[in-house]
Amino acid sequence: MLGAAVPSSAAPDRNDVKESRMTQVIPAPVSVEPDRHGGAFRLESDAAIHADHGARGVGEYLAHVLRPSTGYRLPVTDRKGDISLELGKVGSRLGDEGYELMASGRGVEIKARTARGLFAGVQTLRQLLPAQVESRSVQRGPWTVPAGKIVDYPRFAHRGAMLDVARHFFSPDEVKRYIDQIALYKINTLHLHLADDQGWRIEIKSWPRLATYGGSTEVGGGPGGYYTQDQYRDIVRYAAERQITIIPEIDMPGHTNAALASYAELNCDGVAPPLYTGIEVGFSSLCIDKEITYRFLGDVLRELAALTPGEYLHLGGDEAHATTEPDYVKFFQRVLPMAEALGKKVSGWHDLLKATPSVSAVPQYWGTTPQNDLVAEAVARGNKVVMSPANKAYMDMKYDENTPLGLSWAGFIEVDVAYGWDPGNYLQGVPESAVLGVQAPLWSETLENSDHIEFMAFPRLPAYAELGWSPWSTHDWESFRTRLAAQAPRWTELGIDFYRSPQIPWPE
Ligand code: ACM
Repeated sequence: MLGAAVPSSAAPDRNDVKESRMTQVIPAPVSVEPDRHGGAFRLESDAAIHADHGARGVGEYLAHVLRPSTGYRLPVTDRKGDISLELGKVGSRLGDEGYELMASGRGVEIKARTARGLFAGVQTLRQLLPAQVESRSVQRGPWTVPAGKIVDYPRFAHRGAMLDVARHFFSPDEVKRYIDQIALYKINTLHLHLADDQGWRIEIKSWPRLATYGGSTEVGGGPGGYYTQDQYRDIVRYAAERQITIIPEIDMPGHTNAALASYAELNCDGVAPPLYTGIEVGFSSLCIDKEITYRFLGDVLRELAALTPGEYLHLGGDEAHATTEPDYVKFFQRVLPMAEALGKKVSGWHDLLKATPSVSAVPQYWGTTPQNDLVAEAVARGNKVVMSPANKAYMDMKYDENTPLGLSWAGFIEVDVAYGWDPGNYLQGVPESAVLGVQAPLWSETLENSDHIEFMAFPRLPAYAELGWSPWSTHDWESFRTRLAAQAPRWTELGIDFYRSPQIPWPE
């Protein structure tokens, strides 16, 4: 039978299917107006992508997404195009990351004030096309976009993911794969946890053993690894092309066994401990009263700042159980000005507030209760907060007791828990105006490869992305679970191995 060879993607793209794509976008846009009478746009083989001067990179990115599945040439041009990326010409309420998208039978126009806004619009456009558009091999189409108009901009400036590359090392390609995945949902920062007891993952030229020795293993005793500065710069550039800023973290003064093992002179007793491959926390500390500690950190932060176009360096500061509180404060009172003298703002786990950093410092709340005096007091002084409450936003927590990967110290986090909190109205004394945004951390004690990352991040990552981007007025669990289900065919095309949460009505 001839028809048997035709892939299911060749089935006619029915009107109701097309229209529903416009109302199924994640994160939910500010405003969606389907045009039920207008004809859909259909991308044809001779189509071109118009990109204004300054939007060329976004145009090339879009072409790079669309070419493999459509098989079309899709030249990017400054002349007329069927898909048009235009800079300027939009209302100021869209801000730097907002966009307008208009689709009709004549074409698709995305307008924004900046390339960041156009990039966000391009992510929406991907979801308006059939799921097969995400395939890496040529598919049949038809490549239709429902008619209508979307106006969209983010609720919070910071929408983040964190990847712990210290407990297990992830290769540059694995990091890039995750960058591609978080970009789908308009996440704009990736925090890399680059150093912990189990491994030091970034080359520091003035202290080379940090990487070559301190990076030589990982949890479970595997070979570990590290990024050379060239590899790291390449990751930063790859992320920037996807409008994602990397925030590098060197955790201190605890979580430092890999550094202490690499250089005996960093230890108070001058004796290097062995490398560590377990998963306990809180046993290591830099030596607060040794001058070399500050020379070491001066060198590390200087090299790290030179690799970091973003405005933040993350100084960790969590679980320093082997450092006394007076020492902790003394330590950060020396280190915080070092980071600021390099022209960087400081981010850190909210424990850092014990050292009363300046109001430009951004504490990241990772507690498990909706009340924290340190954070409320910092907000009263003027600090802005990133919200990562561990019992809501930690993607390394198991979904339920049967989840084969992950931990459970902060509880189980099924999709409804991940989605069911308001970052702008969660922590006492921290109003929405004090919330810079939301970040979903992924710690890697139990995670060894991209399959593991994806199983924990999907389907929860889109929930955090929606909490960070969408107006609270759109928050609706029933709507979200339906829209989430509609993402599954896209993940399948992208080879994302997601957790089939029983809460979500996945398509067969
Ligand atoms: C943390 O989970 N220790 C920040």
